[in-house]
Amino acid sequence: MIDDSIDLENNVTESEDVTESEDVTESEDVTESEDVTESEDVTESEDVTESEDSSESTLSSEENAALMEISSLPGVGPVTTKKLQDAGIYTILDIAVRGPTDIADATSFETDKAVELCNKARLKLVEIGKFEKDFVTATEIYDRRQKIERISTGSSNLDELLIGGVETQAVTEFYGEFGSGKTQICHTLCLNVQLPVEDGGLSAGAIYIDTENTFRPERLRDIAVERGMDPDEALGKIIVAKAFTSSHQELLVGELGKVIEDSNA
Ligand SMILES: Nc1ncnc2c1ncn2[C@@H]1O[C@H](COP(=O)(O)OP(=O)(O)OP(=O)(O)O)[C@@H](O)[C@H]1O
Ligand SMILES: [Mg+2]
Repeated sequence: MIDDSIDLENNVTESEDVTESEDVTESEDVTESEDVTESEDVTESEDVTESEDSSESTLSSEENAALMEISSLPGVGPVTTKKLQDAGIYTILDIAVRGPTDIADATSFETDKAVELCNKARLKLVEIGKFEKDFVTATEIYDRRQKIERISTGSSNLDELLIGGVETQAVTEFYGEFGSGKTQICHTLCLNVQLPVEDGGLSAGAIYIDTENTFRPERLRDIAVERGMDPDEALGKIIVAKAFTSSHQELLVGELGKVIEDSNA
């Protein structure tokens, strides 16, 4: 996982592993911000925007849903399934994302049982191609990196700092002083991702998680018109969710998988 941290005043820093804070344009390893993922507005478009991966793309949404059923985990019966559902945990992905501590708290399962469930969920997700294997060859990582795409920010200077734009398969965090443009960048990315590759986009939609109540479709319309895009069509390709608390935000991120599938975001 790569984290691009951009200090709008002090240029760009690149580091490994994800740090989440202010404006973030999320993607896969997601999570893709004051404006994005773990703080304020989140624009998810990258990993989120990924639909490259293989095996699952040939499955119907019903087949995918069946693979995600908790009851398909070995040794997990209806009683456990019901307790998990009562705690708002509906799929194998939910189990893996919530983690053992959270699951134990939410269900009153013993920690050992929660850990076992998470491990089973993770193995299953690897098996069906939703998660990466724990151990991979350098070749596999190389091949994956060849699939990294970039979304133009709309600013040639910023694109240059980012070596071509915001990457897929990564979380990008924008941070900077108030009024420095984080929210505007996230709005612009929602439109730019819709452009064809030759124009700096990915021909895809976007998911915007708004944590500071500053998502403005009116602003998007203005930017779309400015860029020669059909504003009605453009707005239709952006899915928005408002996060009212950090736990609500986590819940929204946990539900992203289905939304991404349905919206090509
Ligand atoms: N509709 C608009 N047209 C032109 N400029 C705008 C518009 N909306 C905002 N701006 C300007 O864009 C700049 C960046 O604002 P933005 O809201 O993106 O900052 P921010 O970094 O998200 O700030 P904060 O930390 O307060 O959330 C500001 O100077 C703001 O006045
Ligand atoms: Mg803002």
